[in-house]
Amino acid sequence: MAVQMKGRSLATLNDLSREEIEQILKTSELLKLQLIRGQEHPLLKGKTLAMIFEKPSTRTRVSFEVGMWQLGGYALYLSTNDLQLGRGETIADTARTLSRYVNGIMARVFAHQTIIDLIRYSSVPVINGLSDFSHPCQGLADLFTVYEKKGRLEGLKMAYVGDGNNVAHSLIEGCSKVGMNIILACPKGYEPDPKVVAQGKKDAQKNGSDVRVTNDPKEAVKGADVIYTDVWASMGKEKEHAQRVKILKPYQVNSKLAKGAKEDFIFMHCLPAHRGEEVTDEVADSANSVIFDQAENRLHTQKALMALVM
Ligand code: CP
Ligand code: NVA
Repeated sequence: MAVQMKGRSLATLNDLSREEIEQILKTSELLKLQLIRGQEHPLLKGKTLAMIFEKPSTRTRVSFEVGMWQLGGYALYLSTNDLQLGRGETIADTARTLSRYVNGIMARVFAHQTIIDLIRYSSVPVINGLSDFSHPCQGLADLFTVYEKKGRLEGLKMAYVGDGNNVAHSLIEGCSKVGMNIILACPKGYEPDPKVVAQGKKDAQKNGSDVRVTNDPKEAVKGADVIYTDVWASMGKEKEHAQRVKILKPYQVNSKLAKGAKEDFIFMHCLPAHRGEEVTDEVADSANSVIFDQAENRLHTQKALMALVM
């Protein structure tokens, strides 16, 4: 039976049960197929989504905006510089005001607390379109992509190599909920939040998988079905770029490192990539790379999410 998700917000993938994640993935599959067949699916006809952006975006903005249009609705792009939020209006008042006009809010922010506050004060669903702590929409698209490529999720091994950041957090939460093993190789001091790892381990155990953190990229990649990496300096960390490049250099995903994975491994990256830093062109453009399918799947999984919660 379908799980009822109407009215729900999404701050992190921990807000979702395994059944809910599976429902989103199934709905994504259906909507993607309908789109390919040219069948319209105006599930959100007449509905509007406000999209707040404190940071730049290519994929998130375009996939939400196009997705909303394909669902028969309308999306408004709101940069914080253009909102009164940029002049000191509170998040609470912004949330309460927007809730009177729109049926859902998507926000890309610096502080994760901003998402929590938006959820608290909105009377419509709020979707996290990336915070410094997590990127749940990316996680959903990633699980869907792995499922499409491998035909299953349970029992697979994902190696995440690099900075233990927002994307890494969502991957830990997502993999552990669906029974995928995830091992993260990060330098000392750049590991994911221990609380996310501890919760991930608990969830993984329930689902017969494991979450592990190591400082050794070779160990992580050994026998992996998926190699995943992300930029070394996330948005907001630009000032640390030079220092991070030095520290993270041994964590570059290149052909030599990738040799340790299964022959049919897939390479994933949430994009944008800093080619030549966290990944070489050789890997990013190889036959193993699925990075643009992954980007495309943001559209399908977010449409499924919006259709289910709005
Ligand atoms: N992966 C992702 O969120 O990309 P954008 O920053 O372009 O939205
Ligand atoms: N970790 C990156 C992801 C970008 C989609 C960042 O936060 O900038």
